[in-house]
Amino acid sequence: MKILNVVGARPNFVKIAPIVAAMKRSRRLRSCLVHTGQHYDQNMSKLFFDEMGLPRPDENLEVGSGSHAQQTAAIMSKFELVLDRYNPDAVLVVGDVNSTVACALVATKLGVRVIHVEAGLRSRDRTMPEEINRLLTDQIADLLFVTCRDAIDNLLAEGIPRRKIHFVGNVMIDSLRRFRPFAEKSDIRNRLHLPPQGYMLLTLHRPSNVDRERDLSHLLGTLRQVADRLPVVFPVHPRTRSRIAASGRLEQLASHPHLQLIEPLGYLDFLKLMLDARFLMTDSGGIQEETTVLGIPCLTLRDNTERPITLTEGTNMLVGRDRQKILRCTDRILAGRWRKGRVPKYWDGHAAERIVRVLEQQAW
Ligand code: UD1
Repeated sequence: MKILNVVGARPNFVKIAPIVAAMKRSRRLRSCLVHTGQHYDQNMSKLFFDEMGLPRPDENLEVGSGSHAQQTAAIMSKFELVLDRYNPDAVLVVGDVNSTVACALVATKLGVRVIHVEAGLRSRDRTMPEEINRLLTDQIADLLFVTCRDAIDNLLAEGIPRRKIHFVGNVMIDSLRRFRPFAEKSDIRNRLHLPPQGYMLLTLHRPSNVDRERDLSHLLGTLRQVADRLPVVFPVHPRTRSRIAASGRLEQLASHPHLQLIEPLGYLDFLKLMLDARFLMTDSGGIQEETTVLGIPCLTLRDNTERPITLTEGTNMLVGRDRQKILRCTDRILAGRWRKGRVPKYWDGHAAERIVRVLEQQAW
């Protein structure tokens, strides 16, 4: 059985790595890898391939950045040619980025089966581009692998037949568990002079937080107040860096004595910083899950999440852009008053193996 795996953006690399490794161990599956080129900077792409031992992509579509329509359309027209040439039994897509929906759509129109890993997550916020990508990909997928039970309910409510859905766990956590021992060896915390358990790690890149100047500067103001309480380290996503620069606040922000703005990190260095952080603030999806597994407090700078299990079982809390709430939560965390949470079912490092087992049983 020939499966064409697709990646495009940073979180995709982390999710595909264990799947590719598990497919390689299977005698029934043959896999190839297509990189759309949605992310292309060394430290947003190649570094992840190197660190996670991912094979060089068989094809790189090199689409680069653009508006949603431009990027999605470029991926679609280039991917169609690749699909014609490879003629696989199925295309496997992960997550919720533009590359996910673009390749799923091309495949289904050509009569090629679509497998969606991390299906069924819903924020119910249709202003998020990822929510549209998730809804559409799930509607056209033939096999849907979910990380949690609420995703099954979401899919059933949208009319997806139960027989297409498989509860396998979380491939991002497969990577976390596999690479943790390597990450522990990173010297990044020493290089940045950060004491263990003595700093907050921040990521910020959602259009809803960084694209409007008023919201961005309000958040940055809050951030400075958090940095008055404990050191903050902030690997800055390229989208966010250009927005901060455009607002003219880059120097003011960087001049705070306890705030370090650094370039985006590779997987291992970032994981090391996460492991040793007192807490995280983020608007990323995956980090809400990773902090839940690690038992580290996470303040999510959004009003909703497609990963509610991290709120009910994990260490996550939604704080939006509410400055008072963020500072209150910071004080509670610093006082040691935060729940420990528990690890959700099947977030155990074996999700990719379960996926491969289901694929091997398909009568394609
Ligand atoms: C994308 C995903 C988002 C995911 C995030 C992870 C979509 C709609 N969004 O958002 O779900 O959480 O990736 O990082 O698919 N850029 C670079 N170098 C790169 C990549 C991007 O400089 O290697 C800059 C470009 O200016 C680009 C901007 O970042 O225009 C945004 O990149 P894009 O891939 O469109 O969206 P992300 O914000 O990265």
